[in-house]
Amino acid sequence: MAFPGFWVVFEGADGVGKTTQVDLLAAHLRSPAGGAREVLTTREPGGTPLGIELRQAIMHGDHVAPRAEALLYAADRAHHIATLVRPALEAGTVVLQDRYLDSSVVYQGGARGLGEEVERISLWATEGLLPDLTVVLDMEPDPARMSRDLDRVERETIAKAAQMREGFLGRAALDRARYAVVDAARTVEEVHASVVEAVTAAMARRDGLAVEPWGTP
Ligand code: TYD
Repeated sequence: MAFPGFWVVFEGADGVGKTTQVDLLAAHLRSPAGGAREVLTTREPGGTPLGIELRQAIMHGDHVAPRAEALLYAADRAHHIATLVRPALEAGTVVLQDRYLDSSVVYQGGARGLGEEVERISLWATEGLLPDLTVVLDMEPDPARMSRDLDRVERETIAKAAQMREGFLGRAALDRARYAVVDAARTVEEVHASVVEAVTAAMARRDGLAVEPWGTP
């Protein structure tokens, strides 16, 4: 990406600790050890005032038709990228974002069965903007509970979580350079250390590319 800023997105199933890791990484990058950088933390849905209204519309409790839901996420995303994320990246800020396009691909495209069009709609909404790095926080869905006697709803919840996990891992496998899969079934500190390692490496790769003279074979 041609911006002076750096953009990291966190993805993964519900409850894997994305918010905690975003906050820890932000604190690290703002500290002298992390380069005393300008950092913006944000999330989808709901990263802007309009996004908060759209988030309430999505989660209003009653049934939302799957295509309407997909378009509400895309509307939130379009506004979020245009008014907050892109300007921050242009200003040289490090943007740490909780969820982005892969969440739509996995939840709306996969779980809701809307398919590949969901990705195209998100790319249209954001004028094709993609993060420098997507960190997938990966965790087996609650294996401790699987051995217990579960009712139907619990089984379905775990099966859905397994489907989400496969979805995110599948996305990561498509583009190893832009993704880092981090084992999230460890202590918060261990996961944080792996996240810092992945982000530092990605930043170094990007900076390395940036200083390479044009025309180098
Ligand atoms: P949130 O409360 O932010 O949960 P989490 O901490 O797990 O991110 O709720 C976001 C929910 O919205 C989450 O269940 C995933 C879902 N979602 C989609 O289905 N599609 C999307 O494009 C996005 C961004 C989120």
